[in-house]
Amino acid sequence: MKAMRVLLLCLLGLLTAAGVVAGYQLRKRPGGSGTVKNGVVPSGAPLLVNLTLIPSAAAQGAVCMDGTVPGYHLHPGFGSGANSWLVNLEGGGWCNNVGTCRFSKNTKRGSSNYMEKQMQFSGISSNKPEENPDFYNWNRVTVRYCDGASFTGEGYDAALLSGCSAGGLASILHCDEFRALFPQSTKVKCLADAGLFLDAVDVGGGRSLRSFYQGVVTLHCFFPQNIVPNITTPTFLLNAAYDVWQIQKSLAPDKADPAGYWKACKFNHSKCDSKQIQFLQGFRNEMLNALQGFSSSSKNGLFINSCFAHCQSFNQDTWYGDYSPTIGKKRIATSVGDWYFERSKEKAIDCAYPCDNTCHHLL
Ligand SMILES: *[C@@H]1O[C@H](CO)[C@@H](O)[C@H](O)[C@H]1NC(C)=O
Ligand SMILES: *[C@@H]1O[C@H](CO)[C@@H](O)[C@H](O)[C@H]1NC(C)=O
Ligand SMILES: *[C@@H]1O[C@H](CO)[C@@H](O)[C@H](O)[C@H]1NC(C)=O
Repeated sequence: MKAMRVLLLCLLGLLTAAGVVAGYQLRKRPGGSGTVKNGVVPSGAPLLVNLTLIPSAAAQGAVCMDGTVPGYHLHPGFGSGANSWLVNLEGGGWCNNVGTCRFSKNTKRGSSNYMEKQMQFSGISSNKPEENPDFYNWNRVTVRYCDGASFTGEGYDAALLSGCSAGGLASILHCDEFRALFPQSTKVKCLADAGLFLDAVDVGGGRSLRSFYQGVVTLHCFFPQNIVPNITTPTFLLNAAYDVWQIQKSLAPDKADPAGYWKACKFNHSKCDSKQIQFLQGFRNEMLNALQGFSSSSKNGLFINSCFAHCQSFNQDTWYGDYSPTIGKKRIATSVGDWYFERSKEKAIDCAYPCDNTCHHLL
């Protein structure tokens, strides 16, 4: 096993983003409610992977915000995947099941004292070929809170940096740095799931996300729409065109909607009236426009489905199940795998809502 040394980047802005998005995800658990189709039965026992703390990182001065040591969950690869690495940046705790969702609001983020001792690996982290056809036998590691890893030495065949939500944003922001950790001979790419946080105009005419992050980070460099055209490493953007986190927190937060006109719609898309749907179509158009330059590069991949969702790669039901969301009959796992291994060009953009009946809407 290669030594993995954690050097901490610990960007204040990212950790702040992680905390904010985590709060959302704990309440809206993917697969917890909504209109997920019946008949999706998880196969076999869930894979639980233990937490490894890294005391040596502390010796190098790399510690979490409160001084505890950083940690990761690693499930070793095997066979043809033994020298390939999937490195997942945790976006503040997506929830695969109740067991991995125990953080309370009072829990301090960025502390290994509060880290889950075990984490369920599913979706893109699954070790079963029937659940994860292209990456199941890779080394799969989730780096918690204090992100950033260093891979030194030879013998790395392939690597994919991934993450959802704040982790997806981190994957975008750190993609080229991640690439630089490996020798040129290693095939390195990045996947950002639900990381396309747009600098969008909210329902009150303001820019909620912008004011939210004001002063935290250099704004221009926070919004992925400004970053993705400049990434040189091949990148895949997976996002719901009607990202529910953004609808609730960026487009129609209570502050921008004092009369509560959006209250029902933002928590249940079937309660949106035609004017609200029209507004959301505008958001989708803005997302597609922001992706034009990115999309024109043949090395990049896209899967923008017209679902009300947030994070679709770590949930088995949305990643690769019998009833997973598709675009052109292709599931997300297949699309990402075909892009990563260059089996085909992947520029999947769904027709506008409500045309897609394969969605797993989270509202
Ligand atoms: C994971 O942790 C549990 C509980 O501490 C322990 O029983 C188990 O042996 C550990 N598994 C591995 C693979 O280290
Ligand atoms: C992206 O590249 C362009 C052209 O080189 C540059 O002007 C711009 O500042 C870059 N954007 C970011 C966010 O680095
Ligand atoms: C969403 O709204 C529809 C239509 O009013 C209703 O039938 C459905 O039960 C609601 N879903 C949830 C999860 O509340």
